[in-house]
Amino acid sequence: MAESITITDNRTGQCLEIPIENGGVSAVAWQKLLPGIWFYDPGFVSTAAAESAITYLDGEAGILRYRGYPIEQLAEQSSYLEVAYLLLHGELPTKDQFEMWRQEITYHTFIHENVRKRFLEGFHYDAHPMGMLVSAVAALSTFYLDAKDIFDLEARNKQIIRLIAKMPTLAAATHRFSVGMPFVYPDNSLDFTSNFLSMMWKVAEPHFQADPFLSRALDILFILHADHEQNCSTTAMRVVGSSHADPYSACAAACAALYGPRHGGANEAVIRMLTSIGSMDEVDAFIAAVKAGETRLQGFGHRVYKTYDPRAKIIKRTADAVFEVTGKNPLLDIALKLEEVALSDDYFVSRHLYPNVDFYSGLIYQAMGFPLTMFPVLFAIARTSGWLAHWVELLDQDMKIARPRQLFIGSQERPYVPISER
Ligand code: SDX
Repeated sequence: MAESITITDNRTGQCLEIPIENGGVSAVAWQKLLPGIWFYDPGFVSTAAAESAITYLDGEAGILRYRGYPIEQLAEQSSYLEVAYLLLHGELPTKDQFEMWRQEITYHTFIHENVRKRFLEGFHYDAHPMGMLVSAVAALSTFYLDAKDIFDLEARNKQIIRLIAKMPTLAAATHRFSVGMPFVYPDNSLDFTSNFLSMMWKVAEPHFQADPFLSRALDILFILHADHEQNCSTTAMRVVGSSHADPYSACAAACAALYGPRHGGANEAVIRMLTSIGSMDEVDAFIAAVKAGETRLQGFGHRVYKTYDPRAKIIKRTADAVFEVTGKNPLLDIALKLEEVALSDDYFVSRHLYPNVDFYSGLIYQAMGFPLTMFPVLFAIARTSGWLAHWVELLDQDMKIARPRQLFIGSQERPYVPISER
């Protein structure tokens, strides 16, 4: 049996055989038989927009691997900074490679004073931190003019280091601005995640010491959010990157896509949903409203996973460890009841709607003291390494500029009518 398909144009009887390679068939090959006929796939539900070696998902089996390593093993044994290296370089670092990487990231955590004093502090007092982050990341492109030299590998790697290193600093700065607290400078004696917590929570103490359990739990969450193949924000990164824009501008576009409640804004939407449900007694009525199409069960469903999101399982376990330190989040019981009711209801099971990465992560963030508006910002810190890995891959593959076609359904030609005659 040949690994191929044959298509026939019934208008001409012409046939064309196309090989099946790496789980796909070339759309360009179809053009030989069907010039000017486009494959209509809004939302890319059935379209592969790239060839990638970074992350593998199996939605049916609930498998997630970064460069071949199972997410369960990385969450258990690795660190976010090591996973960021793995995503970008394709291999786990040696001891020396990791030490070099750690130093480079640590010593690029500062942001230009103008970014903080002139830019971030220019926002309205109640600006959403994610809106501030999107803008600040784009603004960085005006501070590093060598960012445009995307094919100069030394310049390219410098921007990659800067973006991974500065995202936590920018993220914490948006929070400190939002709550009227003074900006906290990076503390280079701390690891990546503890330094972020210091920039978030340090008050008057000379040296902020994060709770090691909470720092480790957040590092695991960063690992789980680091990449997820061709998700919406990564697709934005690839589309903007394909125009050969600088990486800060591409990352700002990816951040903007992540801001949406269907994507990175979902964990904030989950907490708002659980809060509005209010008690276990109201769960059945809420589920009925979801089934009636009046609202959505935030944190449920996924374009790829048609079973339990493997990240959600790990997050649920991490939540227990966090609540040991912070005390249980009172919304947890409502979340557990929602999951129990939904997973026994055919409406959800028949649509393959299971908890995704966002269903439980917000409960942890809230228990750790993060305001809801910071949830997508936390997601962006982690996903920056994934976005950059895909950006490097598309440049190395010399990907063509993203420019899809359309099916025109508008007016045919018609003559202009002067306003006096309308
Ligand atoms: C992330 O792509 C990624 O990898 C994303 C992500 C990553 O790491 O980058 O995993 C992170 O974004 C996770 C998803 C977070 N979003 C949410 O939790 C928001 C709630 N979920 C949905 O809006 C939805 O499930 C999506 C957006 C996640 C997926 O949407 P799809 O694939 O376009 O599915 P769909 O909207 O076509 O829904 C299929 C059916 C529909 O029912 P019918 O019209 O066929 O009757 O399922 C229903 C939908 O109404 N449905 C839901 C639902 N999600 C889908 N019904 C109730 N509650 C939901 N949450």
